[in-house]
Amino acid sequence: MSASRTYVLAIDQGTTSTRAVVFDRAGKPVASDQIEHEQIFPRAGWVEHDALEIWENARRVIGGALSRANLNSRHIEAVGITNQRETTVVWEKATGQPIHHAVVWQDTRTQAFVDELAEDGGVERFKDVCGLPLATYFAGPKIAWILDHVEGARERAEAGELLAGTMDTWLLWNLTGGGENDGVHVTDVTNASRTMLMDLRTLDWDDSVCEAIGVPRQLLPQIRSSSEVYGRCQPGVLSGTPVAGILGDQHAATFGQACLTPGSVKNTYGTGNFMLLNTGTEIVTSDNGLLTTVCYKLGEQDAVYALEGSIAVTGSLVQWVRDNLGLIRSAPEIEDLAATVEDNGGVYFVPAFSGLFAPHWRPDARGAILGLTRFANKGHLARAVLESTAYQTRDVLEAMQADAERAGGRLTELKVDGGMVANETLMQFQADLLGVDVVRPKVVETTVLGAAYAAGLAVGYWESTDEIVDNWGEDTRWSPQLDSDEVDRLHRNWTKAISKSLDWVDEDVD
Ligand SMILES: Nc1ncnc2c1ncn2[C@@H]1O[C@H](COP(=O)(O)OP(=O)(O)OP(=O)(O)O)[C@@H](O)[C@H]1O
Ligand SMILES: [Mg+2]
Repeated sequence: MSASRTYVLAIDQGTTSTRAVVFDRAGKPVASDQIEHEQIFPRAGWVEHDALEIWENARRVIGGALSRANLNSRHIEAVGITNQRETTVVWEKATGQPIHHAVVWQDTRTQAFVDELAEDGGVERFKDVCGLPLATYFAGPKIAWILDHVEGARERAEAGELLAGTMDTWLLWNLTGGGENDGVHVTDVTNASRTMLMDLRTLDWDDSVCEAIGVPRQLLPQIRSSSEVYGRCQPGVLSGTPVAGILGDQHAATFGQACLTPGSVKNTYGTGNFMLLNTGTEIVTSDNGLLTTVCYKLGEQDAVYALEGSIAVTGSLVQWVRDNLGLIRSAPEIEDLAATVEDNGGVYFVPAFSGLFAPHWRPDARGAILGLTRFANKGHLARAVLESTAYQTRDVLEAMQADAERAGGRLTELKVDGGMVANETLMQFQADLLGVDVVRPKVVETTVLGAAYAAGLAVGYWESTDEIVDNWGEDTRWSPQLDSDEVDRLHRNWTKAISKSLDWVDEDVD
């Protein structure tokens, strides 16, 4: 390697877009590129992506980010991958051709299958093993659905002709050679922990759960740590560069936010919201509707675990207002529209588009707008849209506080990141509603940064996680201002609104 400066490149394969960002040693982004991909909605409740389009976009953004910074593979010491979790693809080993569109995490097509699985032992049937309740959200049942609905797929899977994986695995396999050059078929512990198929203790696939859900083991990638050299890129612009870090997007954000000690918490405001609490090397199970997940595992070190509160719809509600209602032309305009009114005018929006995730886990819920009167206008609706994110976050935080108190700690501030944290109105309301400070770091691209750190640590670009802590810097802090009686009144109304969204899905609803 020449004496010139070197960098780490990370790919963030998200729900709506794929980006590549080049980072320097200070953890500062020096160049990036981003491309959106198509959201395919074949019918109500179904969400798909074209995995080949995503792979093509990944290649283009890698090239784009490198050329913007005038860099080539010699300047890049390692590549990290972070990804939308649970989104599942099954493809042909020989050709790299997916046998079906990728089934996205928000997709609810596995509901009937999941209900059937729950008949024997309830929704917590596998929770002791994998830390998760049975829900359409997770990847394992999505793999089984594809095998059962594509002609001949199950036989081909059993014959070893097919491979399955989440988007990290799909990208890694393609980056490291694909069908022609024997690509590496690997996932990391964090992504594996979202399939329902991995035992949280052994960090390996659990045969009995695989069998119950109907996923042949030969289809599954090998599970490795989040930070080690998995293989080298070939061919292409990064040829020869090691791929050395993989973390699911929310785990990556936790890592990038330097939540490295037990008790530290971050909340990411993107398509959905995801709050993770680092619980150290201890596996804590929730009594309050949270998931137990692997936070990260660095090489040979012990795995670090987390409790997670997942909210399906937050930023995507803003997109829905933009795309399906046409009330705004871009997501940031929601703030201007909300600013045309003083308050929510009594309007509450429960965005239960895929049912309700944490802490309720109610697949029978559907979206509802409550409290409408002749007075309500689009400003109130915009306000209700933003507030719904903050209310849902409070519900998750309360669940987390209850579990954390058992694990011995109380939250004093919330680190935030993701696309929605640009919205000052939302952040102030969030602090008001939680009664704790909300803190935004200088680098809000913590997801992709976390993946870069995982890769850079594996190859010695960064020496230790102390550097992650040193690189983290505070940008803005919002403190609670609203009167607490008013906060309680608003939250009581929200709770009422939630109760009205439940029990909607029955035999009369598709
Ligand atoms: N100023 C804003 N106010 C409210 N919402 C916003 C604003 N800017 C962006 N958003 C919302 O934030 C989301 C994008 O955030 P981000 O890019 O972090 O999402 P993401 O979940 O990481 O997406 P992906 O899964 O594709 O990576 C979009 O849903 C968008 O509607
Ligand atoms: Mg993202």
